[in-house]
Amino acid sequence: MTIEVEPLTRHVGGRMTGIDARKPLTPEEVKAIDAGMDRYAVLVLPGQDITDAQQLAFTANFGPFQDGANSTERKQELRLDPAFADVSNLDKGGQKLARDDRRRMASLGNRLWHSDASFRVVPANYSILSGRIVVTRGGNTEFADMRAAYDALDSATKAEVEDLICEHSLIFSRAQLGFEAYKAEELSGMAPVRHRLVRTHPTSGRKSLFLSAHIGTIVGWPQPEAMAFIRDLTEHATQEAFVYSHRWTQHDLVMWDNRTTMHRVRRYDDLNTTRDLRRTTTKGDGPTAEQIEATTIAPSA
Ligand code: OGA
Ligand code: MN
Repeated sequence: MTIEVEPLTRHVGGRMTGIDARKPLTPEEVKAIDAGMDRYAVLVLPGQDITDAQQLAFTANFGPFQDGANSTERKQELRLDPAFADVSNLDKGGQKLARDDRRRMASLGNRLWHSDASFRVVPANYSILSGRIVVTRGGNTEFADMRAAYDALDSATKAEVEDLICEHSLIFSRAQLGFEAYKAEELSGMAPVRHRLVRTHPTSGRKSLFLSAHIGTIVGWPQPEAMAFIRDLTEHATQEAFVYSHRWTQHDLVMWDNRTTMHRVRRYDDLNTTRDLRRTTTKGDGPTAEQIEATTIAPSA
C-alpha cells in the first residue's frame, strides 16, 4: 500500500492512508508516520478497527509508554489495561458515569486546552487515541498548533518567552473548574513540575509554545501577572487559524505530538450517549527543565 497524507488545515493535521495499524509496522512505515507527525503534528488514520492489544503493539513502535497517564480518580476501578488512559464516559461495568461521579468531574479537565501529562517531569510525546464508539453530536477533539503560534509572536514577545519556566500540576487545571477536594494521598502525586515555555522539536528544529491548562505560574513572576500572560498566550495560540477540529468517525485512530500541540474535547451529552475513546501515550525524551522545589505549592511527603 502506498502511504499518502492529505493536509487537513494550513498548519496542522494530516489524513494518512495506506497504513494498517492492526499489523506489525515495517521500519519504513514507522519512519513515514514519524515524518508525518514531524510535519503535521496531528495525523488522522481512518478505518483502523483495532483491538486493545493491537493498539498497544502499534504504540510500542514510537517509544516507551508514559506512566501515570491515567488520572488518580480513574486508577481505582480500571476498565482497561493500565497502559491505557480511559477517555470514555464509562465505568468498569460499562455503565455511564453518574453526573456527580468524581471520575467524570476529573475527565471534564479535558475540555480545557492542554498537553497530555505536562504535569509530569517527563511529559508525553505522542498520544494515540482510538475511536471505538463515537458520538455524532458534539465531542469533537480540537488541536492547536503551538509551532504556528510561536512563529506568529512578534520578536519582542519571542525574546520575552524564550527562557521562561512554568510550573504545571493537575491541581492548577482542576482548580480552573472548581475541583478542589483532594485527599492527602492524592496531593502527593500532584506536586508541580517545571517546564520550559519554549521548546525546540528535536527533529524538525521548530520552536513551539509549551502551553497547557496544567500551568499554574511562571517561575519568578507574581502569580496573577503570570496567569494573565499565560491566558493571553493561550488565547493567541488557540485562534481559529491554528486549529484543526476533528469530528470523529468510528475507528479513526488519531495521533498527536504533545510537544507541539494542545488539544481539548468539546462538550457532548455524556449522560445519555456513549463515547468510548482509548488513549495510549508515549513518554518524552527527558525533562524540559531542571526540577527545583516548586514555589507555588510545597510538595507533600
Ligand atoms: C486525551 C483527551 C480528548 C477527547 O485523550 O488526552 O484529552 O476528545 N481526549 O476525548
Ligand atoms: Mn488529553
